Amino acid sequence: MTIKRPITVTTLTDMKGRGEPIACLTAYDYSFASILDSTGVEIILVGDSVGMVVQGHLTTLPVTVDDLVYHTKCVSRGVETSLIIADMPFGSFQLSPQKAFENAARLLGEGGAQMVKIEGGEFMRETVEFLVERGIPVCGHIGLTPQSVNQFGGFKVQGRETEAASEIENDALVLDQAGVSALILEAMPSALAGSISKKISAPTIGIGAGPQTDGQVLVLYDLLGLYPKKSPKFSKDFLAGAGSAVTAVEHFLKAVKTREFPGPEHCL
Ligand code: KIV
Repeated sequence: MTIKRPITVTTLTDMKGRGEPIACLTAYDYSFASILDSTGVEIILVGDSVGMVVQGHLTTLPVTVDDLVYHTKCVSRGVETSLIIADMPFGSFQLSPQKAFENAARLLGEGGAQMVKIEGGEFMRETVEFLVERGIPVCGHIGLTPQSVNQFGGFKVQGRETEAASEIENDALVLDQAGVSALILEAMPSALAGSISKKISAPTIGIGAGPQTDGQVLVLYDLLGLYPKKSPKFSKDFLAGAGSAVTAVEHFLKAVKTREFPGPEHCL
């Protein structure tokens, strides 16, 4: 199979410029990645959510770089069009920009990803700059960053109070300046996510961040109603009534493109 992967960082910026919503879903294996790719989902995220929905851990913290390299390789084999982002797991990037580069290079070189995702705000500025200067596109991730679940005391909405909201907005501006190619905004008030999306040049991809972001992402196992534990309020089971996984993904894609999803019932 020839890997073409025509969707690039430029495609995402152009879509933001045109006001065209970007659709992103997680995948961890060849078969689901092929389905997402064939339906036209622009971004496939090999998320460290693999630790919870596939490996059965309570958090994403036990996921390793080897796990993510393995799953990114599996996903890569099924993808011809979508852009693949690989998550950098807990402990793989916080120590130093050099350590982050070493691990990110594996996700691109061995895994076949085109971008890596890093959780954290302003304190990640130097690492983002270090990777971007060396040719590795970076997706930031702020708001509820699941790798900090122990610091937050649970998977809680972030940025409700004025001070917390302005800290998150500052994080977004700093990461944008540092050169992120996309920014995940997770579990925060819609107004905050909307304001950030207007102020930064990088496309924002929301999850539990309301309808005003430049794109939407869901964990595939939530979208298909497969995760046996409680799914977050902001997710939606698109398989219910759809009849097949392919149709469920198509419904998600349409709902993102028409901005029907997320609806008010999915906002925090
Ligand atoms: O790991 C993951 O799936 C993620 C998404 C929830 C954005 O980070």
